[in-house]
Amino acid sequence: MRVSPYRNCATLFFLAISLLHAQSAQPNDEQVRDRADALLKQMTIEEKAGQLNQASGRIIKGFADDKPDAAIRAGKVGSVLWQVDVHELNRLQHIAVDESRLHIPLLMAFDVIHGYRIIFPVPLAMASSWDPSVEEQAQHAAAEDARAAEIQWTFTPMLDIARDARWGRIVEGAGEDPYLGAAMAWAQVRGFQGDQLSPTTILACAKHFAGYGAAEGGRDYDSSYIPEELLRNVYFPPFHAAVDAGVGSLMSAYMDLNDVPAAGNRWLLHDVLRDEWGFKGFVVSDALAVGNLVTHGFAADKEDAAYRAFHAGLNMDMASNTTITYLPKLLSEGKITQAQLDDAVRPILEAKIRLGLFEHPYSDETKMDAVLNRQSTRDLERKLAARSMVLLKDDNNILPLPKSVRKIALIGPLADSADDLEGGWSPETLFGDPSKSHPVTIAAGIRNKLAANAEVNVISGPPLRREYPAMLDIIQGKKQIPEPTAAEVRDWLARAEKAAKSADIVIAVMGEAANMSGEASSRSSLALPGIQQPMLELIASVGKPIVLVLVNGRPLDIRWASEHIPAILEAWFPGTEGGDAVADVLFGDVNPGGKLPVTWPRDAGQEPLYYNHNRTHDPDDAPNFTSRYWDLNSKPLYPFGYGLSYAKFSVSNLRVTSQIKANETAKVSVDVANTSNTAGDAVVQIYIHQRAGSASRPVRELKGFRRVTLAPGQSQTLTFPLGPDELSFWSPQTKIRAVEPGTFDVWAGQDSTADLHATLDVTPN
Ligand code: BGC
Repeated sequence: MRVSPYRNCATLFFLAISLLHAQSAQPNDEQVRDRADALLKQMTIEEKAGQLNQASGRIIKGFADDKPDAAIRAGKVGSVLWQVDVHELNRLQHIAVDESRLHIPLLMAFDVIHGYRIIFPVPLAMASSWDPSVEEQAQHAAAEDARAAEIQWTFTPMLDIARDARWGRIVEGAGEDPYLGAAMAWAQVRGFQGDQLSPTTILACAKHFAGYGAAEGGRDYDSSYIPEELLRNVYFPPFHAAVDAGVGSLMSAYMDLNDVPAAGNRWLLHDVLRDEWGFKGFVVSDALAVGNLVTHGFAADKEDAAYRAFHAGLNMDMASNTTITYLPKLLSEGKITQAQLDDAVRPILEAKIRLGLFEHPYSDETKMDAVLNRQSTRDLERKLAARSMVLLKDDNNILPLPKSVRKIALIGPLADSADDLEGGWSPETLFGDPSKSHPVTIAAGIRNKLAANAEVNVISGPPLRREYPAMLDIIQGKKQIPEPTAAEVRDWLARAEKAAKSADIVIAVMGEAANMSGEASSRSSLALPGIQQPMLELIASVGKPIVLVLVNGRPLDIRWASEHIPAILEAWFPGTEGGDAVADVLFGDVNPGGKLPVTWPRDAGQEPLYYNHNRTHDPDDAPNFTSRYWDLNSKPLYPFGYGLSYAKFSVSNLRVTSQIKANETAKVSVDVANTSNTAGDAVVQIYIHQRAGSASRPVRELKGFRRVTLAPGQSQTLTFPLGPDELSFWSPQTKIRAVEPGTFDVWAGQDSTADLHATLDVTPN
């Protein structure tokens, strides 16, 4: 599937400039291949296997007990990960360049997921902007920073469709929708790699191919069972978009996909990825996944694992030391050929050549901090964070708050937390020094907004605690936060109530700690953790105007708040400048325009819950439909695509070409108007449904969107194409992707429940 994502002009401009720079000295495809082949001719089998080996750059007890120096010197390492100390990275690179026989530089890799030092909003938040240029700008800045810090390869973007908020890694992706996900995938690849890889870009890695987000029960790493039609119509499109955008690498997923582990799944890594989509880059396994083909009960032993992963189409082994150990033997026994080995190694050498690693292998440590501490990146972060927030509720226009307010009670464990605001994957915090980014807390952001004599009474606790420690906390030897005693709980509640009573306005900042979302961070409940729910109920009962700011990585069960708290702002994990960005929105300097990239459930028991489900024999059109569950309304709390603004918009006058042939493109036009006195952003969304065909189709599917800024009273006509890219689907009966003639419903509006409707008839060619 091809996407035609929205791109803003400023982004195009800076891409064009960096492109001009890069292109002048960039070798063409033929030159790159010739240079890689010239190297391959000189390489021994061990050196070739070495390029397929990614080693840990730090000692991690249990599986990387030694420094990789000797292996690098012997040419047995192609890439290094999990190291962010630039001095150490340069030292390792010197061993490769100065001391290995062929002087091939290492490809230094790290998870630069949403920023390097200045941390941007988590990917789920950036997807909430419904503005792909947000992702593109953030990842472009992250790429510049990473490159300055000697990281040339990031394991991003995470493109797993997530239909279940219990799954902790929902925070790392763009949510539940293939069309939005594809647009965000495309934008991120362009942000990291520009128009082509060059010494000023970094290599992106689309992960986790494929189906990881469908882990059973939302439990991380569990098996996924996904029929081919769902893979092709829902789970693949973001990956296909990334390949179309030129992504240089992919990472295979951890789990079994339909009983075949992704790292050994030839259908995925070869038939679909290379034969069908024409992918020319390389595939890396997820960490330890090649060796773990044995753990899965798939490979008989490590040698068999190396054989199966290689023949499935996997190039690089991340940290399991399996490929480097067994590949030479497999070759000597004739189980793989020299030509196959060369084909696996070539794209890795080509990436190194395109990235200019042979000419620019090191980072200039003296210049690094100046790049990483750029004020322009901080400013960009603040802007993008505010652009990513979603206003869920604003009864009686309680928001924006007046800057003249004298006394605020700021209550909740996240009110003054610095680290949590950045969410997971902050490279320097994870494996390097504690954060050097100096995050702006929400308390600080609110103080920055108010007059010096305004009083902000902060009750920031008790600290949020995971029942079972996070994997990284264990690796880093962090102490578990103890459970508060009954006396401490009483004390926190009493302080919160007292602060609320003496305030003019109460702001509750609640949600999840950073380590409650992400890898190995699935939850069986979506409730506010700890004592937040009783604390919220207590401070609301005081009767003061109250706003809830959510800081979190997944939709939470906020049924009570949605009924009793007049204003709710979803800030997600907003990043380094998050506190200022939250204050910008709360006090009206920025008008929120984000929309939900996920369906917001009422209760974890509804999961998986997503808007693009099938119609079924008994469609749940009634408002309080109860035949799905008798103990719970089956509708979401907030629909996919939903979000409010301080402005009001109308969407009207939907015009759709009435009839087209299957190979033609219809035009959809719609008017959007700002009907309020405030400037703001509307996100116009187009949904379709095919009434009949060779397979049942979802009740609605997003097929177009655009975020526009409108002045008070201003209106604009937007047009969207509906052609083969949008109308086709892969049918389980015909086994092909095609546009099937028939009648399509078309809706336009501001979320997935839009009711402005027209039809489109598609006739045979
Ligand atoms: C995660 C990947 C990540 C890799 C390297 C794995 O555990 O699943 O997403 O890129 O570690 O850090």
